[in-house]
Amino acid sequence: MTGVRKGPFVVSRQRDEPRLCSHSEVEGAPLNAAEVLQLVDVTRAYPGGVTAVDGVGLTVRQGEFVAVVGPSGSGKSTLLHLVGLLDRPTAGTIRVAGYDTGALPDRSLAALRARAIGFVFQQFHLAPGVRALDAVADGLLYTGVARARRRDRAAETLHQVGLGERLTHRPHELSGGERQRVAIARALVKRPDVILADEPTGNLDSAAAETVLELLRELHAAGTTIVVITHDRGIADSLPRRVRMRDGRIVSADQRREVNP
Ligand SMILES: Nc1ncnc2c1ncn2[C@@H]1O[C@H](COP(=O)(O)OP(=O)(O)OP(=O)(O)O)[C@@H](O)[C@H]1O
Ligand SMILES: [Mg+2]
Repeated sequence: MTGVRKGPFVVSRQRDEPRLCSHSEVEGAPLNAAEVLQLVDVTRAYPGGVTAVDGVGLTVRQGEFVAVVGPSGSGKSTLLHLVGLLDRPTAGTIRVAGYDTGALPDRSLAALRARAIGFVFQQFHLAPGVRALDAVADGLLYTGVARARRRDRAAETLHQVGLGERLTHRPHELSGGERQRVAIARALVKRPDVILADEPTGNLDSAAAETVLELLRELHAAGTTIVVITHDRGIADSLPRRVRMRDGRIVSADQRREVNP
């Protein structure tokens, strides 16, 4: 990647923050952003011989809500990390919001990740002692949103996830379900192209899991594209589309279908 200076993004540093211009401002804007994620023959092999993701092809379009299912070790998290730009494939092509990520230098990749991807983890990943408002405002770091606006946007988003009364609470003052809703707000605040969630209900009791799932459903109904890994059969069966993995491969990826509410 060395020496590559011209990606589709114009990234300049301002007060130690990369600034990402909007699609309309940059040369090479994507032709079909309706395809939020596109994987073509993607492989991730680790040294030592494990091929965690093996020649995967998948397209996720704007507005989809996709469940990724499969046995432990089948490559689900690896796949999500690849499309979330936290890892690079050893072969194949990954397009995010229309951009060929393999052609981007690291700095542009980081900028694309900051703007286009909202990640939610099973373990919440909230820093101890940090107020919900600040944790969510931090979701806007590196997105070009002015510092003064970050808190306002964070407060709006916390209201949106039903935590308008918890703005100054710190993680240890929140229930598990509330912590996960803060984490979802942190992902959501930048209005990403897609929210990627790796077992977001895995650490929650069934009541809290239902609240989090309900929130994801509402976000989807409002137009958010969501890909969620889940071991919960009930959750997976209730979602409009399921991608099933085994041994690093997608064994089925049923297309959109109507689901009874
Ligand atoms: N950093 C790594 N180095 C080597 N092998 C790895 C690494 N990370 C994951 N693997 C292997 O890749 C395979 C897929 O792992 P992955 O975490 O993607 O599975 P998963 O489907 O998310 O499983 P689970 O449901 O248990 O979370 C596993 O066999 C795992 O041991
Ligand atoms: Mg996993």
